[in-house]
Amino acid sequence: MDYAGGTAHGDGIHKGGVLMASLAKQVAVAARFDPPDQWEAIRKEGCPLVIEPRDLAGLAGFARGLASKAPFELGAEGTAIAAAAGLGALPLPLRDDIRQLATRFAALMAVPTVRLRLEGIVGNACRKIHSDNVDVRLITTYAGPGTDYIPLGAEPDEANLRRIPTGSLALFKGRAFNRAHAVCLHRSPPAADMAVTRLVLVIDTPLRAELAELFARQAVTEAHKP
Ligand SMILES: [Fe+2]
Repeated sequence: MDYAGGTAHGDGIHKGGVLMASLAKQVAVAARFDPPDQWEAIRKEGCPLVIEPRDLAGLAGFARGLASKAPFELGAEGTAIAAAAGLGALPLPLRDDIRQLATRFAALMAVPTVRLRLEGIVGNACRKIHSDNVDVRLITTYAGPGTDYIPLGAEPDEANLRRIPTGSLALFKGRAFNRAHAVCLHRSPPAADMAVTRLVLVIDTPLRAELAELFARQAVTEAHKP
């Protein structure tokens, strides 16, 4: 589209006006049928965490069944469809849900591929309060207690932890998103101590995660130079 021509010539002004009207119409249609994703809030400087509540409903039984096979860790990378399929033989409703979440996450982050990790957890790993070396990470817990987080501005103390409800979708901002932004401090609830089993899905942006790791290694190297 050539909007510059539209402002320079009489005929072009009309064409430009038609184009602008057409564009406005497209935007209006898009706004009507494709409302802005509430996940977009994660881009705001003061927003380290987005929680979208949801009811697992029909997925809960499948999730509990799969969780009963813990401990295990499944991983896959690729387009949303390929990565979901790459996790192996999962109950179909769970795989469909993972594919839909991966598709939505890829659209949010404007990436062609995603990295998936589906874990059946019975141990106490990651129980220390920390932030992740990623840009944005989606975590949802299909079975067992959800991830614990520290609300923005609160001290990173166990007494201040809050728990994300099972089934809710959560976007955690990590250290690689933007240095000026607040990160989300969190931890995994200690499944062994609590005598529970968890089924957790993690979705990352693979390329950016690798770049973040590379930058972190370079920063360490620079810091140790004489
Ligand atoms: Fe983490």
